[in-house]
Amino acid sequence: MNSGRRFYVTTPIYYVNDIPHIGHAYTTIAADILARYNRLKGNEVFFLTGTDEHGQKVDKAAKEKGKTPKEHADIMVENFKGLWKKLNVSNDAFIRTTDTEHIKTVQGLMQMLFDRGEIEKRSYAGWYCVPDERFWTEKDLIEGNCPDCGRPVEQIHEENYFFLMSKYQGRLIEYIEEKNPGYILPETRKNEVLGFLKNNTLGDLCISRPKQRLAWGIPLPFDDNFVTYVWFDALVNYFSATRYLIPHAENAKLGDFWWPANHHIIGKDILTTHAVYWSTMLMGLNLPLPKNIFAHGWWTVDGKKMSKSIGNVVDPNEMVDKYGVDAFRYFLFREVPFGLDGDFSEDALIRRINTDLANDLGNLLSRFLTMAEKYFDGRIEIPKGDTTELNEFARMCIYGILNVQKQDFWDRLQFNFILENIWAIIGEANNHIAQKEPWKLAKSNPAELKTVIFNIWNALRLTALAIYPFMPETSEKMWKQLGLRSVKEEAIFEWDWKPSYEIKVSKGEQLFPRIEKKEEKQKIEQKEKKVTEGVKELIAIDDFAKVELRVGKVVAAEKVEKSEKLLKLKVDIGSEERQIVAGIAKAYTPDDLTGKKIVVVTNLKPAKLMGIESHGMLLAATDEEGNMSILALDREVRQGARVK
Ligand code: ME8
Repeated sequence: MNSGRRFYVTTPIYYVNDIPHIGHAYTTIAADILARYNRLKGNEVFFLTGTDEHGQKVDKAAKEKGKTPKEHADIMVENFKGLWKKLNVSNDAFIRTTDTEHIKTVQGLMQMLFDRGEIEKRSYAGWYCVPDERFWTEKDLIEGNCPDCGRPVEQIHEENYFFLMSKYQGRLIEYIEEKNPGYILPETRKNEVLGFLKNNTLGDLCISRPKQRLAWGIPLPFDDNFVTYVWFDALVNYFSATRYLIPHAENAKLGDFWWPANHHIIGKDILTTHAVYWSTMLMGLNLPLPKNIFAHGWWTVDGKKMSKSIGNVVDPNEMVDKYGVDAFRYFLFREVPFGLDGDFSEDALIRRINTDLANDLGNLLSRFLTMAEKYFDGRIEIPKGDTTELNEFARMCIYGILNVQKQDFWDRLQFNFILENIWAIIGEANNHIAQKEPWKLAKSNPAELKTVIFNIWNALRLTALAIYPFMPETSEKMWKQLGLRSVKEEAIFEWDWKPSYEIKVSKGEQLFPRIEKKEEKQKIEQKEKKVTEGVKELIAIDDFAKVELRVGKVVAAEKVEKSEKLLKLKVDIGSEERQIVAGIAKAYTPDDLTGKKIVVVTNLKPAKLMGIESHGMLLAATDEEGNMSILALDREVRQGARVK
């Protein structure tokens, strides 16, 4: 099935001055999830990643190793390629900025801007930060140092070429704010860019470097004494790939066939270069802008910034070797809403493996397979006709699987909501088994047992499909054990799908064996001891940590029709806006609440109150007399901040 829709997603192209870490893995897996989902949906996908190989950083790293920059890049690029393979990243192409075709495209576009009068030569004096490769004005400096990295800057006088970026300031604001509200996501990042653009005068962009200072770059087509500024060169990769790396490139005539990209996924560190430099470069070239730039949050490790000197840089290769590729992929997108900052710890990863993966998902599959083999020799009878009638369980699964496909979630990269909905199906399936007690039905009602077994099989089929973008290997394993043939060919997100062949399930290897860490064992033993001693059970800090509390700002509130108790709120929780229905109408009017900062539980399963969906819960205290007070904050803290 090919719907003919084209979907183009990119990652940043990573510097080859260092080896990849968890942050690089994060962005690339995010793009992989989108690419895989779109392929399942029958779209034609182009997923691009690659490496940024010019500029001072790479030149310096190569010199330190006694290599030419290209020799150095040729070695380092393999670390990225190898990691993407290990992480099951399904990129369609890998661009290197040293590719001849890319170099030609950069020069072509540069010439075009020059010919259009968008580039001017000027003499320039400024403060230059070598490691960041950025110029700063006197007033930008903080105590004479680079405002970004805090390192000393050098005074430089030279002639350079400038792209006349400043003239696009007004157009860019209008583009972001009015014409394309989804251009920069999440909302908080968009507001940051708009704040910057509205409160500062945009300068012109220095797009050259004199060869005598830095030779490692793409020569300017109109002046051989200069090379291209590395960011100009790097940003163009997204466009140049559409000229020579797209599927069937040999037959494509126009580079803009795949352009513009649907999503540029980046980290928040490089938002300005994308939102301001790249956008205005495209305006200057009269090319369409990408449909979306998504800047995700930052991973720290055990609360600290990752750094070689602290020695806390997480190597994704090691995580995969220790915990498996899918557990790692799952953890990154379940633990932290995409867009917010997150903290990585192996303990948190183990917790997720043991609860969500081993307990909820793995056990469900293995219990189901045991029963199907025991009662029906593994054969699943697919009922004829409509299987949703009078089937409350089917309806809940259908609701879940519709949510998994909600375009808005995918457009806004709300992976955590998608995963929550998948886990809601898994939870329902586990409940269904507990309620129906198939082992009793085996004696009392074999006909109903057949229906229950079919229902669980079908829920597992949809689960396997839904997890495919996140955990492709696990999805394939489940698919096989469920007696199905091919995830990709049978990617039908419908409850009433009827396979054209006999289904015989067979129990295979366990999906996620529990990880028993020594300390974990001890904790469990201690907990058990307390319970047996009759001590009131206390919860461990880990149990509390499962509840995600965040600061939210009420942006709108209204009464729920026909209800005395309920208010419907729109709450900004930093990464997104949530609809929350709360039973507080007797104590608060909508006006009392609008603009207030409150505390919200953000990882609750969605619920429906009076037919209205609620995605979270706000915290409030009520006493015996029914007096109520919502929990508010007594100092200014940004929405999205974690409460713990
Ligand atoms: O900036 N947490 O390359 P780069 C989350 N070559 N993501 C992280 C991260 C962290 N701690 N650390 C890195 C460059 N990343 C340029 C890009 S694009 C035209 C040129 C991820 O190797 C995140 O995606 O420094 C971030 O934007 C990117 O790596 C920076 O990679």
